[in-house]
Amino acid sequence: MLNKVRLWKNKGQEPFSSEYTKEEVKKRPIPEHIAIIMDGNGRWAKKRAMPRVAGHYEGMQVVRKITRFANELGVKVLTLYAFSTENWKRPKSEVDYLMKLPEEFLGTFLPELVKENVQVRVMGNKEQLPEHTRRAVEKAIKETKNNTGLILNFALNYGSRAEITSAVQAIAKQIEAGNLTAEQVNEELVASYLMTKDLGDPDLLIRTSGEIRLSNFMLWQLAYTEFWFTDVLWPDFTEQHLLQAIADFQQRGRRFGGV
Ligand code: FPP
Repeated sequence: MLNKVRLWKNKGQEPFSSEYTKEEVKKRPIPEHIAIIMDGNGRWAKKRAMPRVAGHYEGMQVVRKITRFANELGVKVLTLYAFSTENWKRPKSEVDYLMKLPEEFLGTFLPELVKENVQVRVMGNKEQLPEHTRRAVEKAIKETKNNTGLILNFALNYGSRAEITSAVQAIAKQIEAGNLTAEQVNEELVASYLMTKDLGDPDLLIRTSGEIRLSNFMLWQLAYTEFWFTDVLWPDFTEQHLLQAIADFQQRGRRFGGV
């Protein structure tokens, strides 16, 4: 039995009252950009008396499954919050493990991603990553850069406030150098200095594990995004959950501030 989404989080809709098929969901517009805060790996492991890193390992398998499925559905961009700028505060052994995951994931699945026409990207401060992690992601970026299918965008050592601060600094430098005037700074210009400059804003944000907050994730880009929260822990997240989230999204009326 699938875990139920708390009703009050998806007002007025009976979650999982029926299961959706891929074909049904594909009849309506699919969100072009889906962002996911993959949360609950640690709790998943704890429930099984396993070390926290076992939850991250299982979470990585779900990344593979959901990437493949999102590509099949015709999603254009899948942004996954894999490591935040705040995650360095975790115990060293857990950080070390999390820094090995991209290598492990790409070492195993890169040929599959290439075959499935997936383009790998990374947004975040890559300079601060350990050399082995950086090498693995650079290789994947290089090998998939001409792929035209799903863009799999890992937020790795990413923090939204740091991203916005860097953008403001870069814009200020342009003004200082006389290349820009303060009046020319508008929303479009700011967006063009963000790490998502050519990706567009997420249409749908999913956060697992029952936490209802953004945790410094894409604060600018999520201004008009539809949010979908579930109590399901990330390692338990399935294709059916993604279909449910998309089906709920398809029933919402997006007005972008209009009527
Ligand atoms: C949050 O769960 C999850 C993370 C900080 C890491 C997410 C990483 C993965 C799902 C695997 C990434 C895969 C690749 C390919 C890079 P948590 O540890 O905060 O869980 P808790 O809140 O239950 O403790």
